[in-house]
Amino acid sequence: MRTRYLIANWKMQLNESESESLAKQIIELLPDVAAATSSAVELVLCPSHLSLSHVADAVRGRGIALGAQDVFWEDKGAFTGEISPRTLKELGCAFCLVGHSERRQHLNETDQIVCRKTTALLRHDISPIICVGETLAERNAGQRDAVVIRQVRSALDEGRLRPVGNQRIIIAYEPVWVIGTGRAVDPNDAAAAHQLIRDELSEMFPGDVVEKNCFVVYGGSVDSKNIGDFLSIPIIEGALVGGASLKADEFVRMTEVITAL
Ligand code: PGA
Repeated sequence: MRTRYLIANWKMQLNESESESLAKQIIELLPDVAAATSSAVELVLCPSHLSLSHVADAVRGRGIALGAQDVFWEDKGAFTGEISPRTLKELGCAFCLVGHSERRQHLNETDQIVCRKTTALLRHDISPIICVGETLAERNAGQRDAVVIRQVRSALDEGRLRPVGNQRIIIAYEPVWVIGTGRAVDPNDAAAAHQLIRDELSEMFPGDVVEKNCFVVYGGSVDSKNIGDFLSIPIIEGALVGGASLKADEFVRMTEVITAL
Protein backbone atom coordinates (compact mmCIF):
# COMPACT_ATOMS: atom_id res chain seq x y z
CA MET A 1 0.00 0.00 0.00
CA ARG A 2 1.26 3.51 -0.80
CA THR A 3 2.21 5.71 2.12
CA ARG A 4 -0.46 8.14 3.23
CA TYR A 5 0.35 11.50 4.75
CA LEU A 6 -1.02 13.41 7.70
CA ILE A 7 0.56 16.85 7.62
CA ALA A 8 -0.02 19.37 10.41
CA ASN A 9 0.21 23.03 9.41
CA TRP A 10 0.46 24.95 12.65
CA LYS A 11 0.67 28.28 10.77
CA MET A 12 1.53 31.21 13.09
CA GLN A 13 -0.72 29.92 15.87
CA LEU A 14 1.79 28.78 18.52
CA ASN A 15 4.91 30.15 20.16
CA GLU A 16 8.01 28.07 20.80
CA SER A 17 6.98 26.53 24.10
CA GLU A 18 3.43 25.86 22.89
CA SER A 19 4.81 24.13 19.78
CA GLU A 20 7.18 22.01 21.81
CA SER A 21 4.47 21.09 24.26
CA LEU A 22 2.01 20.12 21.48
CA ALA A 23 4.65 17.90 19.86
CA LYS A 24 5.31 16.24 23.22
CA GLN A 25 1.58 15.73 23.87
CA ILE A 26 1.20 14.06 20.48
CA ILE A 27 4.12 11.76 21.24
CA GLU A 28 2.66 10.91 24.65
CA LEU A 29 -0.69 10.02 23.16
CA LEU A 30 1.01 7.96 20.48
CA PRO A 31 3.76 6.36 22.57
CA ASP A 32 4.51 3.73 20.02
CA VAL A 33 4.06 6.03 17.09
CA ALA A 34 6.64 4.40 14.85
CA ALA A 35 5.08 0.97 15.27
CA ALA A 36 1.50 2.26 15.31
CA THR A 37 1.85 4.06 12.03
CA SER A 38 4.52 1.85 10.38
CA SER A 39 4.46 2.57 6.69
CA ALA A 40 0.68 3.15 6.58
CA VAL A 41 0.90 6.84 7.40
CA GLU A 42 3.69 9.35 7.54
CA LEU A 43 3.16 12.06 10.14
CA VAL A 44 4.60 15.51 9.45
CA LEU A 45 4.56 18.47 11.84
CA CYS A 46 5.08 21.94 10.35
CA PRO A 47 5.65 24.47 13.15
CA SER A 48 6.69 28.08 12.52
CA HIS A 49 10.37 28.66 11.72
CA LEU A 50 11.39 29.74 15.21
CA SER A 51 9.87 26.61 16.73
CA LEU A 52 11.52 24.17 14.32
CA SER A 53 14.51 23.29 16.49
CA HIS A 54 12.32 22.78 19.60
CA VAL A 55 9.96 20.48 17.73
CA ALA A 56 12.92 18.74 16.07
CA ASP A 57 14.29 17.88 19.53
CA ALA A 58 10.87 16.66 20.69
CA VAL A 59 10.22 14.35 17.72
CA ARG A 60 13.74 13.05 17.08
CA GLY A 61 13.72 9.25 16.82
CA ARG A 62 9.94 9.08 17.31
CA GLY A 63 8.88 8.36 13.74
CA ILE A 64 7.43 11.83 13.15
CA ALA A 65 8.87 14.02 10.40
CA LEU A 66 9.56 17.73 10.59
CA GLY A 67 8.38 20.22 7.98
CA ALA A 68 8.78 23.97 7.52
CA GLN A 69 6.08 26.35 6.32
CA ASP A 70 8.19 28.32 3.86
CA VAL A 71 11.69 28.71 2.43
CA PHE A 72 13.74 31.15 0.36
CA TRP A 73 15.06 30.03 -3.03
CA GLU A 74 18.75 30.92 -2.56
CA ASP A 75 21.11 29.03 -0.26
CA LYS A 76 23.01 32.06 1.02
CA GLY A 77 23.42 35.79 0.50
CA ALA A 78 22.10 39.27 1.18
CA PHE A 79 18.43 38.34 1.62
CA THR A 80 17.36 40.03 4.82
CA GLY A 81 14.84 38.11 6.85
CA GLU A 82 14.75 35.03 4.64
CA ILE A 83 15.36 31.39 5.60
CA SER A 84 17.74 29.25 3.55
CA PRO A 85 16.89 25.70 2.49
CA ARG A 86 20.34 24.81 3.86
CA THR A 87 19.22 25.91 7.32
CA LEU A 88 16.01 23.89 7.05
CA LYS A 89 18.07 20.85 6.12
CA GLU A 90 20.40 21.39 9.07
CA LEU A 91 17.39 21.65 11.38
CA GLY A 92 16.19 18.27 10.17
CA CYS A 93 13.31 19.29 7.90
CA ALA A 94 12.33 16.54 5.52
CA PHE A 95 9.35 18.51 4.15
CA CYS A 96 8.42 22.13 3.47
CA LEU A 97 5.15 23.77 2.44
CA VAL A 98 5.30 26.04 -0.60
CA GLY A 99 2.69 28.28 -2.16
CA HIS A 100 0.16 28.07 0.64
CA SER A 101 -2.85 30.20 -0.31
CA GLU A 102 -2.27 32.44 2.71
CA ARG A 103 1.18 33.30 1.29
CA ARG A 104 -0.18 33.69 -2.23
CA GLN A 105 -2.85 36.03 -0.85
CA HIS A 106 -1.00 38.07 1.80
CA LEU A 107 2.58 37.99 0.48
CA ASN A 108 2.00 38.02 -3.26
CA GLU A 109 3.65 34.66 -3.71
CA THR A 110 3.44 34.01 -7.45
CA ASP A 111 3.61 30.79 -9.45
CA GLN A 112 7.18 31.75 -10.42
CA ILE A 113 8.19 32.16 -6.78
CA VAL A 114 6.61 28.82 -5.92
CA CYS A 115 8.67 27.22 -8.70
CA ARG A 116 11.92 28.77 -7.45
CA LYS A 117 11.21 27.59 -3.91
CA THR A 118 10.32 24.09 -5.10
CA THR A 119 13.58 23.98 -7.07
CA ALA A 120 15.57 25.03 -3.98
CA LEU A 121 13.93 22.37 -1.83
CA LEU A 122 14.61 19.55 -4.27
CA ARG A 123 18.23 20.74 -4.52
CA HIS A 124 18.49 19.93 -0.81
CA ASP A 125 16.41 16.75 -0.89
CA ILE A 126 13.62 18.37 1.11
CA SER A 127 10.21 17.20 -0.11
CA PRO A 128 8.08 20.13 -1.26
CA ILE A 129 4.41 20.14 -0.28
CA ILE A 130 3.06 22.34 -3.06
CA CYS A 131 -0.27 23.92 -2.18
CA VAL A 132 -2.69 24.61 -5.02
CA GLY A 133 -6.37 25.46 -5.17
CA GLU A 134 -8.96 27.86 -6.45
CA THR A 135 -10.63 30.80 -4.71
CA LEU A 136 -14.43 30.94 -4.50
CA ALA A 137 -14.54 33.57 -7.24
CA GLU A 138 -12.44 31.33 -9.49
CA ARG A 139 -14.65 28.33 -8.75
CA ASN A 140 -17.83 30.31 -9.40
CA ALA A 141 -16.35 31.44 -12.70
CA GLY A 142 -15.78 27.80 -13.67
CA GLN A 143 -12.00 28.20 -13.45
CA ARG A 144 -11.12 25.54 -10.89
CA ASP A 145 -9.46 23.21 -13.35
CA ALA A 146 -7.57 25.93 -15.16
CA VAL A 147 -6.23 27.43 -11.92
CA VAL A 148 -5.17 24.08 -10.47
CA ILE A 149 -3.51 22.97 -13.71
CA ARG A 150 -1.65 26.28 -14.02
CA GLN A 151 -0.42 26.17 -10.42
CA VAL A 152 0.75 22.55 -10.64
CA ARG A 153 2.48 22.97 -14.00
CA SER A 154 4.26 26.18 -13.13
CA ALA A 155 5.42 24.95 -9.71
CA LEU A 156 7.16 22.11 -11.54
CA ASP A 157 8.42 24.29 -14.38
CA GLU A 158 6.19 22.51 -16.90
CA GLY A 159 7.80 19.18 -15.97
CA ARG A 160 11.41 20.35 -16.27
CA LEU A 161 11.67 20.12 -12.48
CA ARG A 162 11.52 16.42 -11.79
CA PRO A 163 12.02 14.35 -8.63
CA VAL A 164 15.02 12.02 -8.84
CA GLY A 165 15.90 8.91 -6.86
CA ASN A 166 13.66 8.72 -3.82
CA GLN A 167 12.67 12.38 -3.80
CA ARG A 168 9.00 12.99 -3.14
CA ILE A 169 6.76 15.74 -4.39
CA ILE A 170 3.48 16.23 -2.58
CA ILE A 171 0.74 18.33 -4.12
CA ALA A 172 -1.84 19.55 -1.60
CA TYR A 173 -5.18 20.41 -3.21
CA GLU A 174 -6.70 23.04 -0.94
CA PRO A 175 -9.79 24.88 -2.18
CA VAL A 176 -9.04 28.31 -0.73
CA TRP A 177 -12.66 29.04 0.14
CA VAL A 178 -13.00 26.17 2.63
CA ILE A 179 -9.71 26.66 4.52
CA GLY A 180 -10.39 27.42 8.16
CA THR A 181 -14.18 27.45 7.71
CA GLY A 182 -15.04 24.10 9.31
CA ARG A 183 -16.82 23.15 6.08
CA ALA A 184 -14.76 20.88 3.85
CA VAL A 185 -15.69 20.23 0.23
CA ASP A 186 -17.50 17.07 -0.75
CA PRO A 187 -14.87 14.28 -0.87
CA ASN A 188 -15.96 13.37 -4.41
CA ASP A 189 -15.41 16.94 -5.49
CA ALA A 190 -11.89 16.81 -3.99
CA ALA A 191 -11.31 13.45 -5.70
CA ALA A 192 -12.10 15.01 -9.08
CA ALA A 193 -9.47 17.69 -8.49
CA HIS A 194 -7.01 14.99 -7.40
CA GLN A 195 -7.64 13.12 -10.64
CA LEU A 196 -6.99 16.30 -12.58
CA ILE A 197 -3.69 16.78 -10.75
CA ARG A 198 -2.60 13.18 -11.30
CA ASP A 199 -3.46 13.47 -15.00
CA GLU A 200 -1.35 16.61 -15.21
CA LEU A 201 1.56 14.93 -13.40
CA SER A 202 1.26 12.01 -15.83
CA GLU A 203 1.51 14.42 -18.75
CA MET A 204 4.70 15.94 -17.36
CA PHE A 205 6.46 12.89 -15.91
CA PRO A 206 6.95 9.24 -16.87
CA GLY A 207 4.48 6.85 -15.22
CA ASP A 208 7.05 5.32 -12.87
CA VAL A 209 7.98 8.78 -11.52
CA VAL A 210 4.34 9.64 -10.83
CA GLU A 211 3.82 6.29 -9.19
CA LYS A 212 6.93 6.31 -7.02
CA ASN A 213 7.64 9.97 -6.33
CA CYS A 214 4.40 11.96 -6.50
CA PHE A 215 1.55 12.13 -3.97
CA VAL A 216 -1.63 14.20 -3.87
CA VAL A 217 -3.30 15.13 -0.58
CA TYR A 218 -6.37 17.18 0.35
CA GLY A 219 -6.50 20.18 2.68
CA GLY A 220 -9.29 22.44 3.91
CA SER A 221 -11.26 21.94 7.15
CA VAL A 222 -10.20 18.34 7.64
CA ASP A 223 -10.80 16.90 11.11
CA SER A 224 -11.12 13.51 12.79
CA LYS A 225 -14.80 13.28 11.80
CA ASN A 226 -14.36 13.75 8.06
CA ILE A 227 -10.82 12.53 7.38
CA GLY A 228 -12.01 8.96 6.84
CA ASP A 229 -14.44 10.12 4.13
CA PHE A 230 -11.55 11.68 2.21
CA LEU A 231 -8.87 9.06 2.70
CA SER A 232 -11.13 6.12 1.96
CA ILE A 233 -11.03 7.36 -1.64
CA PRO A 234 -7.75 5.85 -2.91
CA ILE A 235 -6.72 8.84 -5.03
CA ILE A 236 -6.71 11.03 -1.89
CA GLU A 237 -3.41 10.06 -0.33
CA GLY A 238 -3.36 12.18 2.76
CA ALA A 239 -4.45 15.38 4.42
CA LEU A 240 -2.94 18.77 5.14
CA VAL A 241 -4.60 19.94 8.33
CA GLY A 242 -4.58 23.37 9.96
CA GLY A 243 -7.03 24.04 12.81
CA ALA A 244 -7.66 20.42 13.83
CA SER A 245 -3.92 19.74 14.03
CA LEU A 246 -3.57 22.17 16.94
CA LYS A 247 -5.17 19.71 19.35
CA ALA A 248 -3.08 16.66 20.22
CA ASP A 249 -6.07 14.36 20.72
CA GLU A 250 -7.59 15.38 17.38
CA PHE A 251 -4.30 14.81 15.60
CA VAL A 252 -3.90 11.39 17.17
CA ARG A 253 -7.51 10.48 16.37
CA MET A 254 -6.93 11.41 12.74
CA THR A 255 -3.84 9.17 12.73
CA GLU A 256 -5.90 6.33 14.14
CA VAL A 257 -8.63 6.77 11.52
CA ILE A 258 -6.10 6.62 8.70
CA THR A 259 -4.31 3.62 10.19
CA ALA A 260 -7.62 1.75 10.52
CA LEU A 261 -8.67 2.32 6.89
P1 PGA B 1 -7.65 24.15 7.94
O1 PGA B 1 -6.28 24.66 7.22
O2 PGA B 1 -7.49 22.69 8.18
O3 PGA B 1 -7.71 24.94 9.21
O4 PGA B 1 -8.76 24.45 7.01
C1 PGA B 1 -5.68 23.91 6.22
C2 PGA B 1 -4.51 24.66 5.64
O5 PGA B 1 -4.56 25.89 5.53
O6 PGA B 1 -3.47 24.07 5.29
